Amino acid sequence: MTREIATVGVVGLGTMGSGIAEVLARSGLDVIGVEVDGAGVARARGHLERSTERALAGGKLDSTGREALLGRIRYTTELTDLAAVDFVIEAVPESLELKAQIFNDLDKIVDPEVVFASNTSSLSVTEIGVHTTRPGKVVGMHFFNPAPVLKLTEIVRTVVTEPEVITQVVAFAERLGKTPVVMGDRAGFIANALLFGYLNHAVRMFEQRYATREDLDAAMRFGCGYPMGPLALLDLIGLDTAYEILESMYRQSRNRLHAPAPLLKQMITAGLLGRKTGRGFYTYD
Ligand code: CAA
Repeated sequence: MTREIATVGVVGLGTMGSGIAEVLARSGLDVIGVEVDGAGVARARGHLERSTERALAGGKLDSTGREALLGRIRYTTELTDLAAVDFVIEAVPESLELKAQIFNDLDKIVDPEVVFASNTSSLSVTEIGVHTTRPGKVVGMHFFNPAPVLKLTEIVRTVVTEPEVITQVVAFAERLGKTPVVMGDRAGFIANALLFGYLNHAVRMFEQRYATREDLDAAMRFGCGYPMGPLALLDLIGLDTAYEILESMYRQSRNRLHAPAPLLKQMITAGLLGRKTGRGFYTYD
């Protein structure tokens, strides 16, 4: 019998994790969010407050709904507080070692019937899953930034994921108001595999001084109807995250389209990671 999902554990409350926590709480689920320390918890609270303020300003929530949403999220720094959850979504930084350790620890804490989902965008879900005793209940559940706004959720099945787990996770994504798509475990899944060749190409054009950042972005916004141009989107994603995704796809496919543009690495080394550091291709207040 499929387990009823009422409480969800979210491990890692950075940009994606706190966005995912917001999506879950908005759908009436109780959330227990885990961060490494008090500073991480404070950052997550700030993120959720700002994001739900935007939802309020845009008429997507009223103030009672906002209070109720925020009230459904509990914060902790202990993984052991997830002992009684019905579903887990992990959204820690993209390190296989870190994710493997967390999945291994969670496996000992959480009921063996509970599904574990990773929000990884560039690592192998199969490799993460083998660090548990339940690889058949491990899936990818990849949200898009900003998670409360974008509808897509990519659901990644590995060669050992149980088919009924995929059915359950698809239904769960729909309950969250998302549009799920299902695919196998290959770097980039669907959306990033198509998107990042384009983003990388834009960086190369900028690097070659082919056009200004404003003109590159304007071309795609006003010529193709994209909500943001590629360089502004890279600033939103984070240049470090974008680099990791490209590297991982390049490693797997050897397709030159995904060989990260050298400028990306230089900007990362210089600390220009995009919005999160206040400067990337553009400067932010
Ligand atoms: N909850 C619900 N709705 C919210 C919200 C929240 N917390 N915050 C904002 N909204 C709503 C707003 O009310 C607004 O709704 P309407 O369109 O109905 O008015 C809408 O979301 C847009 O919000 P804003 O007006 O604040 O912002 P904007 O119009 O400037 O749009 C944007 C910003 C949503 C980021 C838009 O530019 C966009 O979609 N850009 C593309 C983003 C994208 O491609 N992301 C994918 C990156 S790749 C990735 O994430 C994968 C990976 O692995 C890295």
